[in-house]
Amino acid sequence: MMKLLHATYFLFLLFFFIPTTSQGQLTRNSFLLEKNWRFFQGEVDRGESTALNDATWQHVTVPHDWAIYGPFDRAHDLQDVAVTQNGEKKASVKTGRTGGLPYVGVGWYRNQFNIPQFDANTKRVVLKFDGAMSEARVYVNGKEACFWPYGYNAFHCDVTELLHADGMNNKLAVRLENKVQSSRWYPGAGLYRNVHVIVTEKVHVPVWGTYITTPFVSDSLASVKLETSLKNADGKLVRMVTAITDAKGRVVAQKENQQKINYGKPFVQNFEVTNPALWSPEHPNLYRASTLVYIDGKLTDNFETRFGIREVRIIADKGFMLNGKIRKFQGVCNHHDLGPLGAAINVSALRYQLELLKDMGCDAIRTAHNMPAPELVALCDELGLMMMIEPFDEWDIAKCKNGYHRFFGEWAERDMVNMIHHFRNNPSVVMWSIGNEVPTQCSAEGYKVASFLQDICHREDPTRPVTCGMDQVTCVLENGFASLLDVPGLNYRTHRYEEAYAKLPQNLVLGSETASTVSSRGVYKFPVVKKGDMLYPDHQSSSYDMEHCSWSNLPDEDFALAEDHHWTMGQFVWTGFDYLGEPSPYDTDAWPNHSSMFGIIDLASIPKDRYYLYRSLWNKNEHTLHILPHWTWPDRVGQQTPVFVYTDYPSAELFINGKSQGIQRKSKASREERYRLMWMNTVYEPGEIKVVAYDENGKAADEKIVQTAGKPYQIKMETAHGTLAADGRALAYIRVKAVDKDGNLCPHADGLVQFEVKGAGTFKALANGDPTNLEAFHKPQMHLFNGQLTLIVQAAEEAGKIQVQAQSKGLKKDVLLVNAVAAP
Ligand code: GAL
Repeated sequence: MMKLLHATYFLFLLFFFIPTTSQGQLTRNSFLLEKNWRFFQGEVDRGESTALNDATWQHVTVPHDWAIYGPFDRAHDLQDVAVTQNGEKKASVKTGRTGGLPYVGVGWYRNQFNIPQFDANTKRVVLKFDGAMSEARVYVNGKEACFWPYGYNAFHCDVTELLHADGMNNKLAVRLENKVQSSRWYPGAGLYRNVHVIVTEKVHVPVWGTYITTPFVSDSLASVKLETSLKNADGKLVRMVTAITDAKGRVVAQKENQQKINYGKPFVQNFEVTNPALWSPEHPNLYRASTLVYIDGKLTDNFETRFGIREVRIIADKGFMLNGKIRKFQGVCNHHDLGPLGAAINVSALRYQLELLKDMGCDAIRTAHNMPAPELVALCDELGLMMMIEPFDEWDIAKCKNGYHRFFGEWAERDMVNMIHHFRNNPSVVMWSIGNEVPTQCSAEGYKVASFLQDICHREDPTRPVTCGMDQVTCVLENGFASLLDVPGLNYRTHRYEEAYAKLPQNLVLGSETASTVSSRGVYKFPVVKKGDMLYPDHQSSSYDMEHCSWSNLPDEDFALAEDHHWTMGQFVWTGFDYLGEPSPYDTDAWPNHSSMFGIIDLASIPKDRYYLYRSLWNKNEHTLHILPHWTWPDRVGQQTPVFVYTDYPSAELFINGKSQGIQRKSKASREERYRLMWMNTVYEPGEIKVVAYDENGKAADEKIVQTAGKPYQIKMETAHGTLAADGRALAYIRVKAVDKDGNLCPHADGLVQFEVKGAGTFKALANGDPTNLEAFHKPQMHLFNGQLTLIVQAAEEAGKIQVQAQSKGLKKDVLLVNAVAAP
């Protein structure tokens, strides 16, 4: 009872009494600089000057991506290069490689902020940027405060000495510059992630100043170690009071310790948590450590760290173990852009992406090939997705003329340290990757660079294994590069897995990047053949999921490797979502293609057929039964039109207008027949196709019907986001379709749809997933692509109804209401 009372009292102190100093001021205050930014695209002479009049500059909110508004143009970042990692030997004209958007050049942002009750002798003020694209120069009151070249990394600088004495009207200016040929995909432009102002006492926990590990984990007991760094506390007597609370806010452990800390050593506290709720993708249980810091008896800081209790191990010949259980990664790689929103971070957009991936059965994300936004990592903690975080696409040797290699020598260590400190408390992060297909793999001393980077990981975070995505298999098996890594990661080259396993001392192979199968949603090509590098006059790829690039393969091969060999660790598919840029196989003077076709889900966040192939294997909780193609082929009457079914059931029977086309069973006759049910000789006639799935006992278990669609009759909108928080940020993704009188999707409809959004929200963006579409994302009208598109609407800051209207010539219009409710 005493114990319980004590815990409750402690909670009361911690959460209901907001920590303040003896003068009654808050010990720590942190806020975002989101509104009232002024932006100018282009160079400005002395853009940092406090005397500059920026009244005519554009008014923007941050996160902001200056390039996503377009227009798309072939001339943007037009490149004459040989993409050596794709096996090219000769230079050729590359269009759309970085998305065909105007991201190159200089941009200036200006804002102003106040620090009430500021005192330079007793306070510290830090600016933290979660990412600024790129070569950021930050100025406060006309003076340079810091420079950070890598656009993907978070960085911070102490600006206390640059503030006005009264703390008011401090002018902030940020100059950003993106060089031509600095990227292999669309990097975005501008202050595309959040900017924070953090105000603390002089003695304080610095940014990313805690490190929580769980040195012992079992079902009955976990030990938790908290190391807290303190700034300006050398020689002082520090008292630290920390409570660990579970997801329900109950105190499960607490400690009060006193000691002197010197030489920058962190303050260490250890805790025991009995019967811990372990973190895993299936049960993403989280805890919090809430710490109060006292110096000479006075409260000087309060700090909170969210964490999870889980154990990660790599076992030779067995693979990756989470909490004592072997599991194979069912992961995807993703670039950072959010399709029509560009690189500008938005939590609802990220959440929607992750929910789609979770439903597919995906359990892991590789952040290709750079540091993620903290919001993404926090969501992976909450929703249960493991992460492999990867900093670089280039080390010291160039892939792009103006790529990161320019900074590697001076900045690599600083970039790695920031990344690791930023994310080492996130339980979702289970592995670091030090790079992707770096040309350094084949250089004679490349292993030294790999060692240097892996050692930084081991030094800053000894708890996580390190890998690297390698594609030059011959080099790395011979030159010692692959053998020095904790985990050898192969990109593609499935035919070399067995050799790598046999030669490497780790006795493991991770599919660090796999598949690169290409397809366009709703596009089907005939005849259906398995081929690499297929090009068509319409610049699309077939959704029969039989096409890939010359260096890559079909999903079926990766499935088989994961199932057949105990030493494979699973995979990270290239990619979960389509992204802007890298329009392979249409990248060589093939404008207007400007976005990828690798995605399992298209640029409009609409799943392609392939989604259901992965789901049929990966989602162990629900059945999958999916038929392709659509069944509306007026030009194919009497022609052979294969039907594929993606399902977890072992067999199924197909009926066309009631006539059985026979039963197909999964078999090991070929890779594809092992994972797909395929009727290759079916002949098209309009009407109905029905598939009946049979379970292991041959009993009919489920069925699905697809009908031939009639003429487009009306526009239909549907959303899973019928209620939004009225916080000015939340988004509703609305699926827009052309349907016939009976509600069947019209798969050839490509009409223009116009939108009007009124009430408690605004129109945000549109996308239709067509990699050749040059319509602007941010204008309220767009053509359907194969009958569908996605509308994104944003809640305002006031609660109310958002009315959305969609109309298209000749079709019945539709109206949808979304509720924006008071944000908590
Ligand atoms: C890989 C590379 C990725 C992407 C992919 C396309 O080699 O690591 O960044 O370019 O190919 O297939």
